[in-house]
Amino acid sequence: MKTITVLPGDGIGPEVTTSAVRVLRALFEKSGRDVQFIEKKIGGAAIDTFGTPLPQETIDQCHNSDAILLGAVGGPKWNAQSMNVRPEQGLLGIRKTMGLFANLRPVEAFDTLIDSSPIKRSFVEHVNFVIVRELTGGLYFGRPSERRGAHHEQVVDTLSYSKNEIERVVEKAFQLAMKRNKKLTSIDKANVLESSRMWRELVNQIAERYPEVTVSHQLVDSAAMQLITNPAQFDVLVTENMFGDILSDEASVITGSLGMMPSASLRSDKVGLYEPAHGSAPDIAGQGIANPLATILSAALLLRYSLDMDQEAAQIEKAVRNVLSQGYHTCDLQMEQPNNHIVNTAEITDLVINAVNENQT
Ligand code: NAD
Ligand code: IPM
Ligand code: MN
Repeated sequence: MKTITVLPGDGIGPEVTTSAVRVLRALFEKSGRDVQFIEKKIGGAAIDTFGTPLPQETIDQCHNSDAILLGAVGGPKWNAQSMNVRPEQGLLGIRKTMGLFANLRPVEAFDTLIDSSPIKRSFVEHVNFVIVRELTGGLYFGRPSERRGAHHEQVVDTLSYSKNEIERVVEKAFQLAMKRNKKLTSIDKANVLESSRMWRELVNQIAERYPEVTVSHQLVDSAAMQLITNPAQFDVLVTENMFGDILSDEASVITGSLGMMPSASLRSDKVGLYEPAHGSAPDIAGQGIANPLATILSAALLLRYSLDMDQEAAQIEKAVRNVLSQGYHTCDLQMEQPNNHIVNTAEITDLVINAVNENQT
């Protein structure tokens, strides 16, 4: 039997994971697969119960799982806490403890959502790329990271990468490019940062083993502009942790909403953590209106990468496409077609499950 650990977290996290688990259960029922779901706390919810954002029992359960499905962490309730008890540390901690160094964030402009993006239709059409974000190094995990001086006149955050940390994520990106359109764009700040210069050198070295892949380098500031003005040029993007964080929220604008961007955090074996790229959306939490599609699409990635269920993963993706093409969407998406219907979280989940069950896929 396979085990999926569910970490709903905070804000809309429990709402969107409930949706994704419902879709997965429907699929497992259909295919007769024996999979158990075990729920654990992370983030603010864990602080409230255990006084820590990443309890040991959550870590142990994740280590005994085939895959982890996570909602989101954080919220105003915990913002006043000192840094070491913030909900976000729970998320960083589980990524680090599990060694999930490669975060894949696919960006796809679904036909029916092209006019939902504020970017011109002609720029967004046919866009389909994946951001590969390094996830367990860089500024997020720098040591020292501290305030100095009697009155904290100085703060220090350090950006450190080892050769191995860079090589393994770049290698993953090349492997992905080989399965796609064989085009890799590496994004750095090599005109300023030493870590970026090493990043660029290692990309060029690894490129020699992948002669079929066309490699280019872009500086992150220019890349941020090109993501809007010419997103169709990209196939696979690879970049360090913080650049990847910022560029992925920017890239979500192409899809029409942050609520449309799934993610897979992977390592060298099949175990992975799957979560939407968005946060806990405190402004809409508890209203039942959050878009669950990023989490449902993350569940599809879970099936593909951790459970070898490619066909079922494709069924979810097609079901999502079908539901959107019928004009159904949550209120974060702006659709301007005559037959559009705004639905809530539970309703769009029902529609996806119906589409999966009816095999309209
Ligand atoms: P956010 O992603 O939570 O929200 C940004 C905006 O997008 C909000 O207006 C929100 O309503 C909207 N939005 C996000 N997801 C949506 C969805 N599925 N459906 C509809 N609308 C959606 O970012 P934020 O407001 O900057 O951060 C809120 C909290 O979430 C912070 O505590 C932050 O640290 C945390 N956060 C967590 C994660 C994570 O757990 N992976 C990611 C990002 C932010
Ligand atoms: C994300 C989030 C997290 C990150 C935060 C909440 C720690 O923004 O998953 O993109 O920066 O990695
Ligand atoms: Mn982010």
